[in-house]
Amino acid sequence: MVAEKIDYVAEIARLKKEKNAVLLVHYYQIAEIQDIADYIGDSLGLSQQAAKTDADMIVFAGVRFMAETAKILSPNKKVVLPDFNAGCSLEESAPYAEFKAFKDQHPDHIVISYVNCSAELKTLTDVVCTSSNAVKIVESFPKDQKIIFAPDKNLGGYINRVTGRNMLLWDGACMVHETFSGKMITDLKAKHPNAEVVAHPESEESVLKLADYIGSTTGLLKYVINSPQQEFIVATESGILHQMRKSAPGKKFYVAPTSKNGHACKACSDCPHMKLNTLEKLYLCLRDETPEINLPAEMLADARKPIERMLELSAKFGL
Ligand code: 13P
Ligand code: SF4
Repeated sequence: MVAEKIDYVAEIARLKKEKNAVLLVHYYQIAEIQDIADYIGDSLGLSQQAAKTDADMIVFAGVRFMAETAKILSPNKKVVLPDFNAGCSLEESAPYAEFKAFKDQHPDHIVISYVNCSAELKTLTDVVCTSSNAVKIVESFPKDQKIIFAPDKNLGGYINRVTGRNMLLWDGACMVHETFSGKMITDLKAKHPNAEVVAHPESEESVLKLADYIGSTTGLLKYVINSPQQEFIVATESGILHQMRKSAPGKKFYVAPTSKNGHACKACSDCPHMKLNTLEKLYLCLRDETPEINLPAEMLADARKPIERMLELSAKFGL
C-alpha cells in the first residue's frame, strides 16, 4: 500500500481554522514555514502578538524559550511548538542555580535579562528585554543604577558601549552569532565594495565594528528595505535572508561568512535549534496538540512580571 501524501500547507490551514489557532513564526524559520505564518516577526513582535491574540491555541514556530514566553503572557491558552528540543545556546549558558548564586553575590544590582533565557531565569529578573528594545530599557534606569545583564555578553557589551554603562555581564553567547568572522567579512566586503554590512547585536564586537547598521531581525529587515544600497552582507541567522529577498527582490544579499576552530564553516549561520522545525512537525503539533508548553503556576506568575514590564516600557517607547 502506498502511503498517502499529506499536503501539509493545506492541512495546517484547515486545522488552524478548525481549532482557532494562530501560527506565530520567527524570521529564523525555514522559508516554507515563514510563508504560511499568521504573524512573522522578531522576539519583541512575537511577544506582543502572543499577549494580544484572541486565538484559542498558539502554535509557535521558533524555539522553546519563545513558546514559553507566549505561555507566560497567555497562560490560559494552549501553546504548542513543533519540536520541544528546540533550545538555545544562550538559555543553556545560564543555569538557574549558578545564576542565582551570582545574583546573590551582587544584592545591590538589578537584573536585566535578554528574553533568550529560561522561564526559571526570568523569575530572577527585574525586567526582560529583546534585541530591539534593550538599549532603551537599559537607558530607562538612572546612570548610577547597578545592573547585571544576562545571559548574552555580546549584546550586553554592545549596550555598554552604546550607553556608556558598565553593566556586569553574564558569560553567555549565541552559538550562531559568535561564528561570524570579522576577517572573512572584510574579505567578502573587498569583493563587494558597495555592500553594506548589517549585523545583529548578538555578534562579537569585531563584527559589530564593521557594521553599517546594527539591530534586531526586524530592524535589519527594515534597514535593507529602506537603504538606497543594493547589496548587503548580513550577519545574523540565515533564515532572515528569505524575508529580505521577498521584501526587496531587486537587491542582493550575502550571508556573512562564519568560521569555527579556525576553519570556514558553511552551515554555522543556520541555528540548529531553529532549524529543527519542519512543516511535517508543525502539522503534527497542530493536529495532536503536542508538544505543549506547561509551566508551574508560580513560575508563570513570577516570570510574567519582568516580561510585562518590558511590554509596558516598549509601549511607552512607541515600539
Ligand atoms: P530578535 O528576534 O530579537 O532579533 O533575536 C534574534 C534571536 O537570536 C532569536 O533567537
Ligand atoms: Fe539561541 Fe542563537 Fe539560535 Fe537565537 S540563533 S535561538 S540566540 S542559539
